Amino acid sequence: MKTTDTNTPRVLVADDQADVLEALRLLLKGEGYRIETVTSPAAVLEAVGARDFDLLLIDLNYTRDTTSGHEGLDLLTRLQQLDATLPVVVMTAWGSVELAVEAMRRGARDFIQKPWENARLLTVLRTQIELGRALRKGEQLEAENQLLRDGVKPPILLATSASMQPVLQLIESVGPSEANVLITGENGTGKEVVAQTLHALSPRAAKPMITVNVGALSEGTFESELFGHVKGAFTDAKTDRVGRFELADGGTLFLDEIANVPLAQQAKLLRVVETGEFERVGSSKTRRVDVRILSATNADLKEEIAANRFRQDLLFRLNTVEIHLPPLRERPEDIPLLARYFLNQHARRYRKPFNGFSADALAVLARYAWPGNVRELSHMVERAMLLAKGTMIEARDLNLQAGREPVRGLEEMNLDEVEAYLIRKTLARFDGNVNQAAEALGLSRSALYRRLQRYGL
Ligand SMILES: Nc1ncnc2c1ncn2[C@@H]1O[C@H](COP(=O)(O)OP(=O)(O)OP(=O)(O)O)[C@@H](O)[C@H]1O
Ligand SMILES: [Mg+2]
Repeated sequence: MKTTDTNTPRVLVADDQADVLEALRLLLKGEGYRIETVTSPAAVLEAVGARDFDLLLIDLNYTRDTTSGHEGLDLLTRLQQLDATLPVVVMTAWGSVELAVEAMRRGARDFIQKPWENARLLTVLRTQIELGRALRKGEQLEAENQLLRDGVKPPILLATSASMQPVLQLIESVGPSEANVLITGENGTGKEVVAQTLHALSPRAAKPMITVNVGALSEGTFESELFGHVKGAFTDAKTDRVGRFELADGGTLFLDEIANVPLAQQAKLLRVVETGEFERVGSSKTRRVDVRILSATNADLKEEIAANRFRQDLLFRLNTVEIHLPPLRERPEDIPLLARYFLNQHARRYRKPFNGFSADALAVLARYAWPGNVRELSHMVERAMLLAKGTMIEARDLNLQAGREPVRGLEEMNLDEVEAYLIRKTLARFDGNVNQAAEALGLSRSALYRRLQRYGL
Protein backbone atom coordinates (compact mmCIF):
# COMPACT_ATOMS: atom_id res chain seq x y z
CA MET A 1 0.00 0.00 0.00
CA LYS A 2 1.21 3.49 -0.80
CA THR A 3 1.77 5.62 2.25
CA THR A 4 2.96 9.03 1.15
CA ASP A 5 0.26 11.56 0.62
CA THR A 6 -2.52 9.12 -0.21
CA ASN A 7 -3.33 9.33 3.49
CA THR A 8 -4.18 12.99 3.30
CA PRO A 9 -7.95 12.92 3.03
CA ARG A 10 -9.40 14.66 0.00
CA VAL A 11 -12.65 16.45 0.66
CA LEU A 12 -14.95 18.07 -1.87
CA VAL A 13 -17.07 20.88 -0.44
CA ALA A 14 -20.09 22.23 -2.32
CA ASP A 15 -22.01 25.34 -1.38
CA ASP A 16 -23.21 28.36 -3.32
CA GLN A 17 -22.10 30.83 -0.68
CA ALA A 18 -18.54 32.06 -0.93
CA ASP A 19 -18.22 32.88 2.78
CA VAL A 20 -19.25 29.36 3.75
CA LEU A 21 -16.69 27.86 1.37
CA GLU A 22 -13.99 30.17 2.68
CA ALA A 23 -14.69 29.30 6.31
CA LEU A 24 -14.67 25.60 5.58
CA ARG A 25 -11.52 25.85 3.52
CA LEU A 26 -9.66 27.48 6.41
CA LEU A 27 -10.97 25.02 8.95
CA LEU A 28 -10.24 21.90 6.95
CA LYS A 29 -6.84 23.04 5.67
CA GLY A 30 -5.86 23.61 9.28
CA GLU A 31 -6.75 19.99 10.02
CA GLY A 32 -4.55 18.74 7.20
CA TYR A 33 -7.23 17.94 4.64
CA ARG A 34 -6.84 18.53 0.95
CA ILE A 35 -9.89 20.46 -0.04
CA GLU A 36 -11.56 21.37 -3.27
CA THR A 37 -14.61 23.63 -3.50
CA VAL A 38 -17.44 23.90 -6.02
CA THR A 39 -20.62 25.94 -6.13
CA SER A 40 -23.20 23.84 -7.97
CA PRO A 41 -24.58 20.30 -8.13
CA ALA A 42 -23.35 19.97 -11.72
CA ALA A 43 -19.82 20.82 -10.63
CA VAL A 44 -20.02 18.18 -7.89
CA LEU A 45 -20.87 15.48 -10.40
CA GLU A 46 -18.14 16.65 -12.72
CA ALA A 47 -15.50 16.63 -9.97
CA VAL A 48 -16.56 13.21 -8.69
CA GLY A 49 -16.34 11.85 -12.21
CA ALA A 50 -12.85 13.22 -12.65
CA ARG A 51 -11.10 12.61 -9.30
CA ASP A 52 -11.25 10.43 -6.20
CA PHE A 53 -12.48 11.94 -2.95
CA ASP A 54 -12.64 10.54 0.55
CA LEU A 55 -15.67 12.55 1.44
CA LEU A 56 -18.19 15.03 0.06
CA LEU A 57 -19.59 17.81 2.21
CA ILE A 58 -22.53 19.30 0.34
CA ASP A 59 -25.10 21.96 0.94
CA LEU A 60 -28.70 21.09 0.07
CA ASN A 61 -29.77 24.48 -1.29
CA TYR A 62 -28.21 26.11 -4.31
CA THR A 63 -30.58 28.76 -5.53
CA ARG A 64 -30.43 31.59 -3.02
CA ASP A 65 -34.12 32.06 -2.47
CA THR A 66 -35.19 28.45 -2.15
CA THR A 67 -34.95 26.37 0.95
CA SER A 68 -36.70 23.27 -0.32
CA GLY A 69 -33.47 21.33 -0.62
CA HIS A 70 -34.64 19.61 -3.77
CA GLU A 71 -31.46 20.30 -5.71
CA GLY A 72 -29.39 18.82 -2.93
CA LEU A 73 -31.63 15.79 -2.56
CA ASP A 74 -31.54 15.10 -6.29
CA LEU A 75 -27.78 15.42 -6.19
CA LEU A 76 -27.65 12.88 -3.37
CA THR A 77 -29.68 10.40 -5.35
CA ARG A 78 -27.37 10.82 -8.34
CA LEU A 79 -24.29 10.37 -6.16
CA GLN A 80 -25.71 7.21 -4.64
CA GLN A 81 -26.24 5.80 -8.11
CA LEU A 82 -22.69 6.68 -9.11
CA ASP A 83 -20.92 5.29 -6.05
CA ALA A 84 -22.77 4.25 -2.92
CA THR A 85 -19.52 3.79 -0.99
CA LEU A 86 -18.55 7.46 -1.24
CA PRO A 87 -19.41 9.14 2.08
CA VAL A 88 -21.58 12.22 1.70
CA VAL A 89 -22.29 14.58 4.59
CA VAL A 90 -24.96 17.22 4.01
CA MET A 91 -25.35 20.70 5.41
CA THR A 92 -28.84 21.98 6.21
CA ALA A 93 -30.25 25.14 7.64
CA TRP A 94 -30.77 25.12 11.38
CA GLY A 95 -34.09 23.55 12.29
CA SER A 96 -34.82 21.83 9.00
CA VAL A 97 -34.94 18.44 10.57
CA GLU A 98 -37.28 16.94 8.00
CA LEU A 99 -34.84 17.77 5.25
CA ALA A 100 -31.95 16.24 7.15
CA VAL A 101 -33.96 13.09 7.74
CA GLU A 102 -34.86 12.88 4.06
CA ALA A 103 -31.20 13.33 3.11
CA MET A 104 -30.19 10.47 5.41
CA ARG A 105 -32.88 8.32 3.85
CA ARG A 106 -31.34 9.04 0.48
CA GLY A 107 -27.95 7.86 1.55
CA ALA A 108 -26.23 10.79 3.27
CA ARG A 109 -24.03 9.41 6.06
CA ASP A 110 -24.61 12.29 8.43
CA PHE A 111 -25.70 15.90 8.51
CA ILE A 112 -24.42 19.19 9.88
CA GLN A 113 -26.72 22.05 10.74
CA LYS A 114 -25.67 25.58 9.87
CA PRO A 115 -24.24 27.45 11.62
CA TRP A 116 -22.08 24.49 12.50
CA GLU A 117 -19.92 23.81 15.52
CA ASN A 118 -16.37 23.23 14.31
CA ALA A 119 -15.69 20.42 16.76
CA ARG A 120 -18.74 18.47 15.74
CA LEU A 121 -18.11 19.01 12.05
CA LEU A 122 -14.55 17.73 12.38
CA THR A 123 -15.66 14.67 14.35
CA VAL A 124 -18.30 13.83 11.79
CA LEU A 125 -15.86 14.18 8.90
CA ARG A 126 -13.15 12.12 10.60
CA THR A 127 -15.57 9.31 11.48
CA GLN A 128 -17.11 9.16 8.03
CA ILE A 129 -13.78 9.28 6.24
CA GLU A 130 -12.51 6.35 8.32
CA LEU A 131 -15.70 4.38 7.79
CA GLY A 132 -15.65 5.16 4.09
CA ARG A 133 -12.04 4.00 3.70
CA ALA A 134 -12.73 0.80 5.58
CA LEU A 135 -15.81 0.22 3.50
CA ARG A 136 -13.92 0.68 0.27
CA LYS A 137 -11.15 -1.66 1.37
CA GLY A 138 -13.78 -4.30 1.88
CA GLU A 139 -13.08 -4.61 5.59
CA GLN A 140 -16.67 -3.89 6.31
CA LEU A 141 -18.04 -5.94 3.52
CA GLU A 142 -19.24 -8.65 5.82
CA ALA A 143 -20.92 -6.16 8.11
CA GLU A 144 -22.53 -4.46 5.15
CA ASN A 145 -23.82 -7.71 3.78
CA GLN A 146 -25.25 -8.45 7.16
CA LEU A 147 -26.99 -5.09 7.10
CA LEU A 148 -28.46 -5.87 3.71
CA ARG A 149 -29.62 -9.28 4.81
CA ASP A 150 -31.21 -7.82 7.91
CA GLY A 151 -32.91 -5.27 5.71
CA VAL A 152 -34.84 -7.88 3.77
CA LYS A 153 -35.97 -9.87 6.77
CA PRO A 154 -39.71 -9.60 7.26
CA PRO A 155 -40.59 -7.22 10.07
CA ILE A 156 -41.03 -8.72 13.49
CA LEU A 157 -44.23 -8.23 15.43
CA LEU A 158 -43.13 -7.10 18.86
CA ALA A 159 -45.58 -7.09 21.75
CA THR A 160 -45.35 -7.70 25.48
CA SER A 161 -48.45 -5.92 26.72
CA ALA A 162 -51.37 -7.84 28.17
CA SER A 163 -53.75 -6.45 25.56
CA MET A 164 -51.62 -7.82 22.73
CA GLN A 165 -51.50 -11.36 24.09
CA PRO A 166 -54.88 -12.42 22.66
CA VAL A 167 -53.76 -10.93 19.34
CA LEU A 168 -50.55 -12.96 19.34
CA GLN A 169 -52.46 -16.12 20.22
CA LEU A 170 -54.95 -15.54 17.45
CA ILE A 171 -52.16 -14.97 14.94
CA GLU A 172 -50.50 -18.21 15.97
CA SER A 173 -53.66 -20.21 15.68
CA VAL A 174 -55.08 -18.81 12.42
CA GLY A 175 -51.78 -18.10 10.72
CA PRO A 176 -51.25 -21.68 9.51
CA SER A 177 -54.90 -22.05 8.43
CA GLU A 178 -56.62 -21.13 5.18
CA ALA A 179 -59.00 -18.73 6.90
CA ASN A 180 -59.53 -15.29 5.39
CA VAL A 181 -58.54 -12.75 8.00
CA LEU A 182 -59.70 -9.17 8.40
CA ILE A 183 -57.22 -7.03 10.32
CA THR A 184 -58.60 -3.87 11.90
CA GLY A 185 -57.04 -1.05 13.85
CA GLU A 186 -56.11 2.63 13.64
CA ASN A 187 -53.44 3.94 11.29
CA GLY A 188 -49.98 2.71 12.07
CA THR A 189 -50.98 0.03 14.57
CA GLY A 190 -49.19 -2.71 12.64
CA LYS A 191 -51.87 -4.20 10.39
CA GLU A 192 -49.45 -4.86 7.57
CA VAL A 193 -46.96 -6.48 9.94
CA VAL A 194 -49.73 -8.79 11.11
CA ALA A 195 -50.58 -9.69 7.51
CA GLN A 196 -46.93 -10.50 6.81
CA THR A 197 -46.72 -12.59 9.95
CA LEU A 198 -49.87 -14.53 9.05
CA HIS A 199 -48.49 -15.26 5.60
CA ALA A 200 -45.11 -16.28 7.00
CA LEU A 201 -46.79 -18.77 9.34
CA SER A 202 -48.90 -20.31 6.58
CA PRO A 203 -48.11 -23.24 4.28
CA ARG A 204 -48.16 -20.61 1.52
CA ALA A 205 -45.08 -18.88 2.94
CA ALA A 206 -42.87 -20.08 0.07
CA LYS A 207 -45.20 -18.38 -2.40
CA PRO A 208 -45.54 -14.61 -2.62
CA MET A 209 -47.79 -12.36 -0.62
CA ILE A 210 -49.09 -9.75 -3.05
CA THR A 211 -50.29 -6.49 -1.55
CA VAL A 212 -52.85 -4.25 -3.20
CA ASN A 213 -53.93 -0.95 -1.78
CA VAL A 214 -57.46 -1.31 -3.08
CA GLY A 215 -58.43 2.02 -1.58
CA ALA A 216 -56.08 3.78 -3.98
CA LEU A 217 -57.57 2.21 -7.11
CA SER A 218 -59.99 4.30 -9.12
CA GLU A 219 -63.15 2.83 -10.59
CA GLY A 220 -61.37 2.75 -13.92
CA THR A 221 -58.25 0.87 -12.85
CA PHE A 222 -59.73 -1.44 -10.23
CA GLU A 223 -60.67 -4.35 -12.47
CA SER A 224 -57.59 -4.25 -14.62
CA GLU A 225 -55.30 -4.10 -11.56
CA LEU A 226 -56.96 -6.97 -9.77
CA PHE A 227 -57.97 -9.19 -12.67
CA GLY A 228 -55.67 -8.11 -15.49
CA HIS A 229 -56.70 -7.36 -19.05
CA VAL A 230 -56.13 -8.54 -22.58
CA LYS A 231 -54.57 -6.52 -25.36
CA GLY A 232 -57.08 -4.14 -26.89
CA ALA A 233 -59.56 -4.31 -24.00
CA PHE A 234 -59.38 -0.52 -23.83
CA THR A 235 -57.37 2.24 -25.48
CA ASP A 236 -54.33 1.99 -23.20
CA ALA A 237 -54.27 -1.81 -23.17
CA LYS A 238 -51.33 -2.25 -25.52
CA THR A 239 -50.44 -5.71 -24.23
CA ASP A 240 -51.92 -8.44 -22.07
CA ARG A 241 -51.59 -7.78 -18.38
CA VAL A 242 -51.66 -10.19 -15.47
CA GLY A 243 -53.71 -9.01 -12.51
CA ARG A 244 -52.90 -9.26 -8.81
CA PHE A 245 -55.14 -12.26 -8.24
CA GLU A 246 -53.18 -14.28 -10.78
CA LEU A 247 -49.86 -13.08 -9.37
CA ALA A 248 -50.91 -14.28 -5.95
CA ASP A 249 -51.97 -17.72 -7.18
CA GLY A 250 -50.88 -20.32 -4.63
CA GLY A 251 -49.97 -17.57 -2.19
CA THR A 252 -51.65 -14.77 -0.29
CA LEU A 253 -53.36 -11.60 -1.48
CA PHE A 254 -53.36 -8.73 0.98
CA LEU A 255 -56.15 -6.24 0.26
CA ASP A 256 -55.26 -3.09 2.14
CA GLU A 257 -57.72 -0.25 2.87
CA ILE A 258 -60.60 -2.55 2.00
CA ALA A 259 -63.29 -0.13 3.23
CA ASN A 260 -62.47 2.22 0.36
CA VAL A 261 -63.45 -0.15 -2.42
CA PRO A 262 -66.17 1.59 -4.42
CA LEU A 263 -69.53 -0.06 -3.90
CA ALA A 264 -69.83 -0.77 -7.62
CA GLN A 265 -66.68 -2.92 -7.50
CA GLN A 266 -67.60 -4.83 -4.37
CA ALA A 267 -69.76 -7.35 -6.23
CA LYS A 268 -66.86 -8.28 -8.49
CA LEU A 269 -64.61 -8.66 -5.52
CA LEU A 270 -67.19 -10.78 -3.73
CA ARG A 271 -67.36 -13.22 -6.62
CA VAL A 272 -63.63 -13.85 -6.79
CA VAL A 273 -63.31 -14.08 -3.01
CA GLU A 274 -66.16 -16.64 -2.94
CA THR A 275 -65.18 -18.76 -5.91
CA GLY A 276 -61.64 -17.84 -6.94
CA GLU A 277 -63.08 -17.17 -10.40
CA PHE A 278 -62.75 -14.08 -12.57
CA GLU A 279 -62.14 -12.91 -16.11
CA ARG A 280 -59.42 -10.60 -17.37
CA VAL A 281 -60.90 -7.35 -18.66
CA GLY A 282 -61.78 -7.81 -22.32
CA SER A 283 -61.73 -11.60 -22.14
CA SER A 284 -64.58 -14.03 -21.67
CA LYS A 285 -62.38 -16.85 -20.50
CA THR A 286 -62.97 -17.61 -16.83
CA ARG A 287 -59.84 -18.15 -14.81
CA ARG A 288 -59.50 -19.74 -11.42
CA VAL A 289 -56.92 -19.06 -8.75
CA ASP A 290 -56.12 -20.42 -5.33
CA VAL A 291 -55.49 -17.46 -3.02
CA ARG A 292 -55.86 -16.80 0.62
CA ILE A 293 -57.28 -13.35 1.28
CA LEU A 294 -56.07 -11.11 4.05
CA SER A 295 -57.56 -7.65 4.28
CA ALA A 296 -57.12 -4.61 6.47
CA THR A 297 -58.94 -1.42 7.31
CA ASN A 298 -58.92 1.38 9.81
CA ALA A 299 -62.64 2.00 9.29
CA ASP A 300 -65.54 0.48 11.16
CA LEU A 301 -67.06 -1.81 8.55
CA LYS A 302 -70.25 -2.33 10.57
CA GLU A 303 -70.83 1.40 10.31
CA GLU A 304 -70.01 1.33 6.60
CA ILE A 305 -72.58 -1.42 6.14
CA ALA A 306 -75.21 0.52 8.09
CA ALA A 307 -74.55 3.50 5.82
CA ASN A 308 -74.86 1.31 2.72
CA ARG A 309 -71.30 1.87 1.69
CA PHE A 310 -70.10 -1.67 2.21
CA ARG A 311 -71.70 -5.00 1.35
CA GLN A 312 -72.44 -7.22 4.28
CA ASP A 313 -71.98 -10.40 2.23
CA LEU A 314 -68.48 -9.24 1.28
CA LEU A 315 -67.61 -8.60 4.91
CA PHE A 316 -68.76 -12.10 5.83
CA ARG A 317 -66.38 -13.55 3.26
CA LEU A 318 -63.45 -11.47 4.41
CA ASN A 319 -63.72 -11.74 8.17
CA THR A 320 -63.80 -15.47 8.77
CA VAL A 321 -61.49 -14.37 11.54
CA GLU A 322 -61.06 -10.79 12.67
CA ILE A 323 -57.93 -9.53 14.37
CA HIS A 324 -58.19 -6.15 16.04
CA LEU A 325 -55.05 -4.24 16.92
CA PRO A 326 -55.44 -1.94 19.93
CA PRO A 327 -54.04 1.59 19.54
CA LEU A 328 -50.61 2.18 21.05
CA ARG A 329 -51.98 4.47 23.78
CA GLU A 330 -53.88 1.45 25.15
CA ARG A 331 -50.73 -0.61 25.41
CA PRO A 332 -48.02 1.72 26.74
CA GLU A 333 -46.13 -1.32 28.08
CA ASP A 334 -45.09 -2.01 24.49
CA ILE A 335 -43.50 1.41 24.03
CA PRO A 336 -40.02 0.82 25.56
CA LEU A 337 -39.57 -2.41 23.64
CA LEU A 338 -40.67 -0.90 20.34
CA ALA A 339 -38.63 2.25 20.91
CA ARG A 340 -35.45 0.22 21.52
CA TYR A 341 -36.14 -1.93 18.50
CA PHE A 342 -36.56 1.10 16.24
CA LEU A 343 -33.50 2.77 17.74
CA ASN A 344 -31.41 -0.31 16.94
CA GLN A 345 -32.76 -0.48 13.45
CA HIS A 346 -32.30 3.18 12.60
CA ALA A 347 -28.94 3.41 14.35
CA ARG A 348 -27.63 0.51 12.33
CA ARG A 349 -28.95 1.95 9.12
CA TYR A 350 -27.29 5.29 9.81
CA ARG A 351 -24.19 3.65 11.34
CA LYS A 352 -24.52 5.60 14.58
CA PRO A 353 -23.85 3.81 17.84
CA PHE A 354 -26.57 4.27 20.48
CA ASN A 355 -27.04 3.02 23.99
CA GLY A 356 -30.73 3.63 24.49
CA PHE A 357 -33.09 6.08 26.12
CA SER A 358 -32.72 8.07 29.30
CA ALA A 359 -35.34 7.47 31.98
CA ASP A 360 -36.80 10.91 31.25
CA ALA A 361 -37.07 10.15 27.57
CA LEU A 362 -38.91 6.91 28.28
CA ALA A 363 -41.27 8.79 30.58
CA VAL A 364 -42.01 11.30 27.82
CA LEU A 365 -42.71 8.49 25.38
CA ALA A 366 -45.03 6.78 27.84
CA ARG A 367 -47.09 9.94 28.42
CA TYR A 368 -47.69 10.81 24.79
CA ALA A 369 -50.98 9.87 23.08
CA TRP A 370 -49.52 8.52 19.80
CA PRO A 371 -52.26 9.42 17.34
CA GLY A 372 -50.06 7.89 14.61
CA ASN A 373 -49.43 4.78 16.72
CA VAL A 374 -46.39 2.56 16.10
CA ARG A 375 -45.47 4.25 12.82
CA GLU A 376 -45.30 7.61 14.58
CA LEU A 377 -43.12 6.08 17.28
CA SER A 378 -40.73 4.75 14.66
CA HIS A 379 -40.49 8.13 12.94
CA MET A 380 -40.02 9.94 16.20
CA VAL A 381 -37.22 7.64 17.27
CA GLU A 382 -35.55 8.10 13.89
CA ARG A 383 -35.63 11.87 14.18
CA ALA A 384 -34.52 11.87 17.80
CA MET A 385 -31.60 9.65 16.86
CA LEU A 386 -30.57 12.06 14.12
CA LEU A 387 -30.80 15.01 16.49
CA ALA A 388 -29.22 13.47 19.56
CA LYS A 389 -25.80 14.82 20.46
CA GLY A 390 -24.65 11.88 22.53
CA THR A 391 -25.27 8.16 22.41
CA MET A 392 -28.40 8.32 24.57
CA ILE A 393 -31.76 9.63 23.48
CA GLU A 394 -32.74 12.31 25.97
CA ALA A 395 -36.15 13.84 26.60
CA ARG A 396 -35.08 17.06 24.86
CA ASP A 397 -34.31 15.16 21.66
CA LEU A 398 -37.94 14.07 21.58
CA ASN A 399 -39.24 17.53 22.41
CA LEU A 400 -38.31 18.93 19.06
CA GLN A 401 -40.62 16.60 17.28
CA ALA A 402 -43.65 17.61 15.31
CA GLY A 403 -46.85 16.39 16.83
CA ARG A 404 -45.48 16.04 20.36
CA GLU A 405 -48.30 17.25 22.50
CA PRO A 406 -49.46 16.27 25.95
CA VAL A 407 -52.35 13.89 26.25
CA ARG A 408 -54.99 16.54 26.56
CA GLY A 409 -57.97 17.20 24.39
CA LEU A 410 -58.63 20.55 22.76
CA GLU A 411 -61.83 20.81 24.74
CA GLU A 412 -59.79 20.95 27.95
CA MET A 413 -57.75 23.95 26.78
CA ASN A 414 -58.62 27.63 26.86
CA LEU A 415 -58.54 29.68 23.68
CA ASP A 416 -54.99 30.95 24.16
CA GLU A 417 -53.76 27.41 24.70
CA VAL A 418 -55.51 26.21 21.59
CA GLU A 419 -53.99 29.05 19.60
CA ALA A 420 -50.50 28.33 20.92
CA TYR A 421 -51.00 24.64 20.24
CA LEU A 422 -52.06 25.26 16.65
CA ILE A 423 -49.15 27.60 16.03
CA ARG A 424 -46.63 25.10 17.39
CA LYS A 425 -48.13 22.35 15.25
CA THR A 426 -48.11 24.47 12.12
CA LEU A 427 -44.56 25.66 12.66
CA ALA A 428 -43.44 22.09 13.14
CA ARG A 429 -45.26 21.09 9.98
CA PHE A 430 -43.30 23.65 7.97
CA ASP A 431 -40.02 22.96 9.74
CA GLY A 432 -40.02 26.30 11.47
CA ASN A 433 -40.58 28.32 8.30
CA VAL A 434 -42.47 31.37 9.57
CA ASN A 435 -43.65 32.53 6.16
CA GLN A 436 -45.24 29.23 5.27
CA ALA A 437 -46.72 28.76 8.72
CA ALA A 438 -48.22 32.27 8.64
CA GLU A 439 -49.78 31.60 5.28
CA ALA A 440 -51.26 28.30 6.41
CA LEU A 441 -52.65 29.92 9.55
CA GLY A 442 -54.16 32.79 7.58
CA LEU A 443 -52.03 35.34 9.43
CA SER A 444 -49.60 37.98 8.26
CA ARG A 445 -45.98 37.32 9.07
CA SER A 446 -45.89 40.07 11.68
CA ALA A 447 -49.13 38.90 13.30
CA LEU A 448 -47.58 35.47 13.66
CA TYR A 449 -44.41 36.95 15.15
CA ARG A 450 -46.46 38.86 17.74
CA ARG A 451 -48.15 35.64 18.77
CA LEU A 452 -44.86 33.77 18.93
CA GLN A 453 -43.65 36.39 21.37
CA ARG A 454 -46.84 36.39 23.38
CA TYR A 455 -46.73 32.63 23.83
CA GLY A 456 -42.98 32.51 24.29
CA LEU A 457 -42.53 30.14 21.37
N1 LIG B 1 -45.74 -4.71 16.87
C1 LIG B 1 -44.82 -4.20 16.04
N2 LIG B 1 -43.53 -4.61 16.13
C2 LIG B 1 -42.61 -4.08 15.31
N3 LIG B 1 -42.85 -3.15 14.39
C3 LIG B 1 -44.10 -2.72 14.26
C4 LIG B 1 -45.16 -3.22 15.07
N4 LIG B 1 -46.30 -2.61 14.74
C5 LIG B 1 -45.99 -1.75 13.75
N5 LIG B 1 -44.67 -1.82 13.44
C6 LIG B 1 -43.98 -0.97 12.45
O1 LIG B 1 -44.66 0.26 12.42
C7 LIG B 1 -44.87 0.73 11.10
C8 LIG B 1 -46.35 0.82 10.80
O2 LIG B 1 -46.92 -0.48 10.78
P1 LIG B 1 -47.93 -0.96 9.63
O3 LIG B 1 -47.54 -0.40 8.32
O4 LIG B 1 -48.06 -2.43 9.74
O5 LIG B 1 -49.25 -0.24 10.15
P2 LIG B 1 -50.72 -0.23 9.52
O6 LIG B 1 -51.65 -0.58 10.61
O7 LIG B 1 -50.75 -1.06 8.28
O8 LIG B 1 -50.87 1.30 9.19
P3 LIG B 1 -51.84 2.01 8.08
O9 LIG B 1 -53.23 1.87 8.57
O10 LIG B 1 -51.39 3.44 8.13
O11 LIG B 1 -51.59 1.35 6.78
C9 LIG B 1 -44.12 -0.24 10.22
O12 LIG B 1 -42.83 0.25 10.01
C10 LIG B 1 -44.07 -1.51 11.03
O13 LIG B 1 -42.97 -2.29 10.68
MG1 LIG C 1 -51.00 -0.46 6.30
